[in-house]
Amino acid sequence: MKEIKVCSSFKVFDSIDELNDQIKSLFKEAFLIRKSAYSQYSKFSVGAAVLLENGEILSGSNQENSSYPSGLCAERTVLFYANSKYPNIKVKEIAIVAGSTEKINEIPVAPCGACRQVISEYQSKQNSNIGLYFMGEKGKIIYTDSINNLLPFKFDKTFL
Ligand code: THU
Repeated sequence: MKEIKVCSSFKVFDSIDELNDQIKSLFKEAFLIRKSAYSQYSKFSVGAAVLLENGEILSGSNQENSSYPSGLCAERTVLFYANSKYPNIKVKEIAIVAGSTEKINEIPVAPCGACRQVISEYQSKQNSNIGLYFMGEKGKIIYTDSINNLLPFKFDKTFL
C-alpha cells in the first residue's frame, strides 16, 4: 500500500477590486446574466461568463424546468454555447456568481460535479488550462488555474 497525497492550490481575493480589468469585465457579465436565470424552482440563480482566446466574452445562466433534471447549470449553458459557436477557440477563463434569490450569499459557490466534468472535458479538448473564478453575490472570490484542482481524479477519453 502507498498513500497518494493530492495537492490543490487556490487564491482567495477579498473583493473584485483586487482583480485585473479583464476579470472584472468577466464578472460584470456574469452578474448581468445571472439576472436572466430561470430558477423559479430552486430560487438559486447562477451566472457564468467565459473569456475566449479571441477576447470575446460569452455568458449564460441556469435554466430550470418543471421536470427538474431537464434543467441546466449556468456553467454548462455557457460552455456548450461557447463550444457550439466557436468550436476551435479556446476558453481562457470562467467566472461564476451564484446565490439564493431570497438572501444575500457571501460564500463563494464552487461548480457542481457535473459542471466540473464538463469544464475538465473542454480543458482536455483544447489542451490548455481554463482559469476558474467563483464567488457569491458579494465578498471573497476564489481562483484556481485549472479544474484539476477541483477534480483531481477525472474521467476522460483515455478510459474509453
Ligand atoms: N447550479 C448551477 O447553475 N451551477 C452549479 O454549479 C450548481 C447549481 C444551478 C442548478 C439549479 O438551477 C440551481 O443552481 C440549484 O441547484
